Amino acid sequence: MPKERAARNRTLTLTPDEERTMIQHVVTDDMLRHGMAYADTTINADVMSVLPLLPDAFADLIIIDPPYNLTKDFNGSKFAARTNEQYMDFLRQWLPQVVGKLKPDGSLYMCGDWKCTAALQQVLAEQMHIINRITWQREKGRGALTNWKNSMEDIWFAVKDPNNYYFNVEAVKMRRQVIAPYRTNGKPKDWEETASGNFRMTYPSNFWDDISVPFWSMPENTDHPTQKPEKLIAKLILASSREGDMVFDPFLGSGTTSVVAKKLKRHYCGVEINAEYCCWAEKRLAMATADTTIQGYADGVFWERNTLTQQQTEAKRKTRKNAANSASAQFSLF
Ligand SMILES: C[S@@+](CC[C@H](N)C(=O)[O-])C[C@H]1O[C@@H](n2cnc3c(N)ncnc32)[C@H](O)[C@@H]1O
Repeated sequence: MPKERAARNRTLTLTPDEERTMIQHVVTDDMLRHGMAYADTTINADVMSVLPLLPDAFADLIIIDPPYNLTKDFNGSKFAARTNEQYMDFLRQWLPQVVGKLKPDGSLYMCGDWKCTAALQQVLAEQMHIINRITWQREKGRGALTNWKNSMEDIWFAVKDPNNYYFNVEAVKMRRQVIAPYRTNGKPKDWEETASGNFRMTYPSNFWDDISVPFWSMPENTDHPTQKPEKLIAKLILASSREGDMVFDPFLGSGTTSVVAKKLKRHYCGVEINAEYCCWAEKRLAMATADTTIQGYADGVFWERNTLTQQQTEAKRKTRKNAANSASAQFSLF
């Protein structure tokens, strides 16, 4: 039953009718066993039963957002916090098989918080070459009286072959506001002066402080307890895959990886044990057919947080410029 929402709350909901429709799009492990194709699907099953049914080396990019070592209720299915050793055993149950699904020149990202990050690093290093650790400053987090508020996550970046992997830094440049605009001979040095402010294009570092956690006023928001932002996944997909590549997520949740892959013209395959989450993923995928926007990413550029007004001003300026260009092109035809 959909929850009562405030008028401006844009959190995704499904009517019972929609739920009946969406579940028909979801694939099961039994369907895979009977020869159903895995590309561009949401698979509702335990990842352990799905992995033997998927071909080896089918994915160009794998994004893993596993249950962290915390007690968490995923729609009735509880993941219980455990000792570090037991958590590493849990990772070793599936990670080697997941890595087997990656192409020899593919890349893999794995997310975690401060508590499980050491286990992730150790178990991942048993399988792959770790080439970076991204820290995402998450902004949201519960305050505590006897400890520091938890507001960061890690994303481990690993490859099979450090001499042969794809990385497109140009696709993930950031548009940053210039704090101290420096000029030479009166002209901006490496920055641009626009009606909406002064900006510089910069290469991204491994510290990400420009991404908010999805919240109720964002159309991408669902009731999933640990949903990742589309903007964060877009950076991983744009940097580490090409259009047409295959992106695999073995713990799909509300569908973020598949949705962003579809918006960015990649193929996708996601596995999620909870049927309702699979329906949310399918509804988001259906919506992504008409709406390919990713909040915080516009015109091939990542913007800083809280810059929606500048983004809109910039978009209007570009539309006016394009209209003027096409008008003058038409005029020159006569
Ligand atoms: C951290 S969440 C992923 C959230 C996701 N990145 C998103 O943006 O919504 C982990 C997900 O793994 C699912 N899960 C847990 N154990 C699983 C298993 N054995 N097989 C498949 N999915 C599983 C949970 O139901 C949960 O939705």
